[in-house]
Amino acid sequence: MRKGLFITFEGLDGTGKTTQIMELEKKLQQLNLSYITTREPGGTPIAEKIREIILDPENTEMSSQTEALLYAASRAQHVSETISPALQNNQVVICDRYFDSTLAYQGYARELTLEALYQMNEFAMQGIKPDLTFLLDTDTQAASGRMHDKQMDRLDLEADFFKKRVRAGFLKIADFEKERIKVINAALSVEQIHEAVWDYTKEALQNKGLV
Ligand code: TYD
Repeated sequence: MRKGLFITFEGLDGTGKTTQIMELEKKLQQLNLSYITTREPGGTPIAEKIREIILDPENTEMSSQTEALLYAASRAQHVSETISPALQNNQVVICDRYFDSTLAYQGYARELTLEALYQMNEFAMQGIKPDLTFLLDTDTQAASGRMHDKQMDRLDLEADFFKKRVRAGFLKIADFEKERIKVINAALSVEQIHEAVWDYTKEALQNKGLV
């Protein structure tokens, strides 16, 4: 059995995932635990190139099917080159987004069939599933309000109703997998959210015998 711990952060853009990842990194450093932080789409040079194609605002003709396949292609490379070797090496892997984003964005929001998404991603993920997932949840207005100072990519430019479907999708996924996915109210303070994240992470590390 692989020993490392695979943690993912999910949620709409602007829910504070990056801040929480940084807070978690600080804790792991204090404990001298070996970890890597990575993200999707991207996380390896090849996957970052795929990311550029996916997010380029000029690619307005991209079909939903192409989009889903590109996310899966990026994920396949990321799993092979980064995530799987780190887990084999007993490291903690923190990943900003993973397959739950595909289910929420391409499945619930773009309305591709979940079955097709599961199939292509089972092939891409090669059996590597997160041990623990944090879903930072807030309403779409609050999330959009925190994005004003960034350059908008192709998916950021989607309308509010699209984001509402993404949010509802994430909550449904979390409902199916209560054990793995912890829903946290992203409107809480950074400290409060971090406390919740750390409580669950500590327990998972203990269960894996990593602390
Ligand atoms: P992210 O890197 O979180 O965006 P940003 O740099 O804008 O904060 O993710 C890029 C976008 O890709 C984001 O809008 C969510 C979307 N996405 C999917 O639609 N499906 C997926 O499988 C993944 C991983 C991301």
